[in-house]
Amino acid sequence: MTLSVITIDGPAGSGKSTVAKKLAERLNAGFLDTGAMYRAVTLASLKKEIDLEDENAILAVMDASDITFEIVSKSMAVTVDGVDVSDEIRKPYVTEKIKYIASAPAVRKRLIAMQREFAGAHGTIVTEGRDQGTEAFADAQHKFFLTADARERTRRRMADLEAAGQAVDIDELRLAIEKRDESDMTRQTGALRPADDAIIIDSTSIDLNGVVDLIIKYINAK
Ligand code: DC
Repeated sequence: MTLSVITIDGPAGSGKSTVAKKLAERLNAGFLDTGAMYRAVTLASLKKEIDLEDENAILAVMDASDITFEIVSKSMAVTVDGVDVSDEIRKPYVTEKIKYIASAPAVRKRLIAMQREFAGAHGTIVTEGRDQGTEAFADAQHKFFLTADARERTRRRMADLEAAGQAVDIDELRLAIEKRDESDMTRQTGALRPADDAIIIDSTSIDLNGVVDLIIKYINAK
């Protein structure tokens, strides 16, 4: 089977997870949420109480932990040492610390190898994150970069968190999103940026089904 990769990168709350999932469903393709990988390694590192600025300690946690990623009911299910942590990894105390894991180059290298392996096991795959079009799958056939203004992204994140039963203050959330944008865009490796050949879609005033339709149009036109 020919491997066909569709990358969707973008900042927190841009809707890329929802769009990637819906797109994968429409194309009958696999789906990879790479943020879940960074989240799982962060959670495992927090559990082991290591110094998060010590890259070798993070690598040791990765060696010592059994971390699995699987598509279950069209969503990413993540386990760490046999425990399902699919919800836990989305909690703010984990999100706050991801920047340490995301800025460790050797950790990124390993996660990218895992992403390529995951993609290899699925004929066609929609993969979303920050560096999918620039680093992990620089040769992908179809690359998209999803943006939306910070106010709309905060509103979407708030709705997701509320749906998951988590209480949040909107001003704190907006600040957290802006801080995450800053650290995602300025890290030395795997920084958030559109690939030169990515199509940029601003979803501020398009609903997410509209974005999926638009992406399918671009794919079919290529
Ligand atoms: O998409 P998300 O909010 O679940 O991602 C959480 C964090 O993980 C994000 O702020 C930065 C990091 N990340 C990354 O560095 N590279 C990726 N490909 C995906 C996520």
